[in-house]
Amino acid sequence: MKIAIGCDHGGINLKNKIRQHLLSKNIEVQDCGAFNDASVDYPEYCIKVSKAVVSKECELGILCCGTGIGMSIAANKFKGIRAAVVGDTFSAKATREHNNTNILCLGERVIGEGLALDIVDAWINAEFLGGRHSNRLAMIDNIERGEV
Ligand code: RB5
Repeated sequence: MKIAIGCDHGGINLKNKIRQHLLSKNIEVQDCGAFNDASVDYPEYCIKVSKAVVSKECELGILCCGTGIGMSIAANKFKGIRAAVVGDTFSAKATREHNNTNILCLGERVIGEGLALDIVDAWINAEFLGGRHSNRLAMIDNIERGEV
């Protein structure tokens, strides 16, 4: 599995911790930056990670900013991206199983590193359940295509 990661200045410490964590589990990482804590615009890094996921270069993406919210708003503008801000392990698992999210957004200013890494593990290890959830995602695809 290859995971694209990205952040702005508000999420750089967490993004770097997640990179180390994924590498320690022998998961391939594509680090899309940022690479220092200078103030930057989060959509720029969201675009890099979202494109890596949409193009299937990477299976999943993880975006960190101060709250995770700006990253999730921007990522969900991409056709084919299902991004969620998550702050607990139950939702992390559920958002793969039910929503088949392909981008996880985390807020470095909101949650601690230990919880964030548990969320990453719960999210990566869960699998989409399909069935009725596929029907619901198809309905969301219809919204995306303007067919409602
Ligand atoms: C940057 O100050 C902050 O706005 C950003 O990291 C993020 O929280 C936006 O949603």
